[in-house]
Amino acid sequence: MYEELALFELAIWVGLPAWIANATPVLGGGGNPIDGGRYFRDGRRLLGNGKTIRGFIVGIIFGTLTGLGQFIIAPYLRPFLAMFVTVTPEMDYVLFMQVPVAILMSFGALTGDLVGSFIKRRVNVESGDPSPFMDQLGFIIMALIFAAPIFDPGAIFVTILIITTFFIHWVSNALGYLLGLKKHPW
Ligand code: CTP
Ligand code: MG
Repeated sequence: MYEELALFELAIWVGLPAWIANATPVLGGGGNPIDGGRYFRDGRRLLGNGKTIRGFIVGIIFGTLTGLGQFIIAPYLRPFLAMFVTVTPEMDYVLFMQVPVAILMSFGALTGDLVGSFIKRRVNVESGDPSPFMDQLGFIIMALIFAAPIFDPGAIFVTILIITTFFIHWVSNALGYLLGLKKHPW
């Protein structure tokens, strides 16, 4: 029981830099769009006004700071974790978040977000309109791919992380819909 809970918590822990990188551009976005207002040959915007240089930088900074914070507090969390479970080498590996991993995950998350917008514009989805699956999962998958050269959390953590990411987006969107903040429940 504690074992499963620990795996779940550590999967979330590992995804935090990517999540934060993905969630914070909205706080600092605005200004020049990354595509410079340019259009693709299909007559639609390359990326759209929802992807700005400032938003990208804000995401990288917050994602990296998250990783730095995790790196600093990991040694203090370990004895706490050890009170409940036998800490395996795999658990130690994901607990001790390295800053370069957080940087790569942040870049990956934001690049995945850009790739998603590029695809959305190609299939004529307006900026801000939803694209289920891509909006929720593109960033986390790309974050893991970017970090892969120096970071391999293993199949179990990757699986839990992807499922949890999808579920949390789903819950937060459904909640936003019920509260009247969002037009669609996805
Ligand atoms: N944002 C930004 N720069 C980025 C990513 C996001 O400025 N690189 C800001 C924008 O204000 C954007 C908001 O965060 O509107 C929400 O991000 P997101 O949902 O990813 O963008 P959308 O507006 O939905 O555009 P798209 O359809 O292209 O995903
Ligand atoms: Mg969106």
